[in-house]
Amino acid sequence: RRVTVLMGGISAERTVSLSSGAGISAALREEGYEVHVLDAGPDLGAIVADLTTHRPDVVFNALHGRLGEDGAIQGVLDWMDIPYTHSGVRASATAMDKAAARAVFLAAGLPVAGGTVIDIADFPAADPLPTPYVIKPLNEGSSVGVEIVRTGSNRRAAITAAWTYGPHALVEEFIPGRELTVGVMDDRALTVTDITPNPATGHEFYDYAAKYQAGGSQHVLPARIHPDAFAQALDLAAAAHRALGCTGATRTDFRYDDTQCGDGPGRLVILEVNTQPGMTPTSLLPEQAQTQGIGYGPLCRWMVEHATC
Ligand code: DAL
Ligand code: MG
Repeated sequence: RRVTVLMGGISAERTVSLSSGAGISAALREEGYEVHVLDAGPDLGAIVADLTTHRPDVVFNALHGRLGEDGAIQGVLDWMDIPYTHSGVRASATAMDKAAARAVFLAAGLPVAGGTVIDIADFPAADPLPTPYVIKPLNEGSSVGVEIVRTGSNRRAAITAAWTYGPHALVEEFIPGRELTVGVMDDRALTVTDITPNPATGHEFYDYAAKYQAGGSQHVLPARIHPDAFAQALDLAAAAHRALGCTGATRTDFRYDDTQCGDGPGRLVILEVNTQPGMTPTSLLPEQAQTQGIGYGPLCRWMVEHATC
């Protein structure tokens, strides 16, 4: 079977995608696929020409972020009638738009943090929520552009001046406690990882550097949390995947407030569903699959064999 690994792209997560794509390409070759690598740049004509020349049986979509994870390239591949890994146009577009995804989660009765969409131009004037809260771009990944606004900080004008993520932003109540993530393969939630940014490196949350620097964060899996919260995280990840209409593998990120709960299970909220989870050496989904006896190569194979048609 011939697989084109589509990687790179032009989003803020280009470097992450090149890392995911390098791992995937090597693994698929070892799994016996005939692999062609396509580093996608801004020229769509060149992408289409490459796909036309090499005409793969399946595209492994290793892109992350804008145009790669938001339904845009999925639409091109639908148009060309080439099967591809991960979710289709609608699920990808909805999941990548944090405001749209929140609406879907709320309609499905799934827990999200209190929040709202703001005009970034209005942001310097006043705090849109009680502090502390989180401000994030609507359409980025890997925590690009995410900042916690704390009580007493006066960062609104500076954040607005540096904002390059469009006219709107999502602001959400800051949930203290921990960050959890759950991978899903089709209908199967894998396990729960508890992620702690390495305090020695000064990360306030699981930000870009904590995600991709070796040693930037510690991953405990299976997470040592209240068993009810563990079970709930598995259920919610599968439910979020279904609510968005995702296919193949996804990974759902949570905040988990265990600071108030005493002996209770605490509070879980869904941050987002990643329709193209990172496959880099520090990424979370491959670690989770490994604990279920699915190595990196077989995980890549599974994704190819579950390509969207
Ligand atoms: N957005 C990155 C790639 C992830 O969720 O793994
Ligand atoms: Mg993401």
